[in-house]
Amino acid sequence: MYNKADEKITEKLREIAGRDSVFTDEENLKLYSKDYTENLSYNPEVIVKPVNTSQVSSILKLANEYRIPVIPRGGGTGLSGGALAVYGGICLSMEKFNRIIEIDRENFQAVAEPGVITQVLQEECEKQGLYYPPDPASRGSSFLGGNLAECSGGPRAVKYGVTKDYILGIEFVTPTGEIINSGARVLKNVTGYNLTQLLIGSEGTLGVITKIIFRLVPLPKFRKVLLAAYNNIEDCAKTVSKIFQAGITPSALELMENSAMQAAEKQLGKKFPNGEAAAQLLIEVDGNHEESLMNDIELIGGIVSENGAYDVLLAEDNQKMNEIWALRRCIGEAVKSISEYKEEDTVVPRTKIPDLIKGVKEISSKYGITTICYGHAGDGNVHVNILKDKLDEESWQKNIDTAIREIFTLTVSLGGTISGEHGIGYSQKSYLPIALGSSEIELMKKIKMTLDPYGIMNPGKIFSD
Ligand code: LAC
Ligand code: ZN
Repeated sequence: MYNKADEKITEKLREIAGRDSVFTDEENLKLYSKDYTENLSYNPEVIVKPVNTSQVSSILKLANEYRIPVIPRGGGTGLSGGALAVYGGICLSMEKFNRIIEIDRENFQAVAEPGVITQVLQEECEKQGLYYPPDPASRGSSFLGGNLAECSGGPRAVKYGVTKDYILGIEFVTPTGEIINSGARVLKNVTGYNLTQLLIGSEGTLGVITKIIFRLVPLPKFRKVLLAAYNNIEDCAKTVSKIFQAGITPSALELMENSAMQAAEKQLGKKFPNGEAAAQLLIEVDGNHEESLMNDIELIGGIVSENGAYDVLLAEDNQKMNEIWALRRCIGEAVKSISEYKEEDTVVPRTKIPDLIKGVKEISSKYGITTICYGHAGDGNVHVNILKDKLDEESWQKNIDTAIREIFTLTVSLGGTISGEHGIGYSQKSYLPIALGSSEIELMKKIKMTLDPYGIMNPGKIFSD
């Protein structure tokens, strides 16, 4: 189906990008064979690190002509295997596209290349009183390009929205090598089809993003963080929608079950306040008026107590707040170090979170698997990590796929879907038909075919072969 990136192709890549930007040694192939998804690893045949859009275009024209897979790669922090070279081919690392081109304070916009680390853009914006809210847990090493490819979210999405809500336009290169500029530096735009949004969340299967125009918002002046501890996860889950129903939109509303907190505590050697609780809500509010935030905090305190929280704690200062967030952000990594695992990214309407968690626990006990639930409950996005833990190999192999199918079928029956922010990529593609109808999948494949007639862009992702 595909040709190999052999010595002839490698030489042509050297001619395009320069000898010191092309790698074929074992050590590099190994390094670029993984992302953060489970223990999956697939070596590319060659790695190329272009420095400009014209090089990206030449590389894609070459790959298209010789039918060689191209796997665009950002920071390698993806959680559904989007950056894995499952058919070998050319790993196109965007790490040299690392410039913030402009921060336009007057218009609340920024222009940056896709290889900029998410947190670097956030910090540069903050220095100017501007805010770029999308904040995936991996923001210290994820690239903006990867964030667009997967439409990353994170805790603050509940108030501010996800990556797609902050993109005004992009420059991208199609799989056949054309350079396209979509969108404009404006807040409203109904000028033709929205190609920018087509590329966002397309997981590197429709083109390579080479420049990004961001929308920014003013940086809120104050933040407050509250922890609400519960003796049972049901009450904790039921509280989530009650907070919104009272007219409050927190800037983050995270749910963590006990095992998630324990894993984080072990990982960082620090303690959550009330870390022994069966489950906790981590609630953050932000805004420009401290007094009004304290009013919200008081209201939230009342709601969580009425709904069964046995203790409510306000983080006393910035240091405590940062400590709590550091613990929360490391849960994903911490949980993975316990045992072999599968990571799911379910999302349901927020009133359905109690049903989702109850169903997940029933499915876990039916198959003897361990599940750890945590995540962005405020927007209905619950990460379900499934651990092999002490289960014997045979039962794990026999039941894991069925258990995941049951969890996803339940999620969809609750009005939800199978990925909120991690994408389908490689690891979830066999479950796509649980969430999407066959006509929808066929239409998506036709769009893919129009842009990528030979299927060279990140093959083996999203759709089952
Ligand atoms: C988190 C990642 C796993 O929420 O999405 O920690
Ligand atoms: Zn998350």
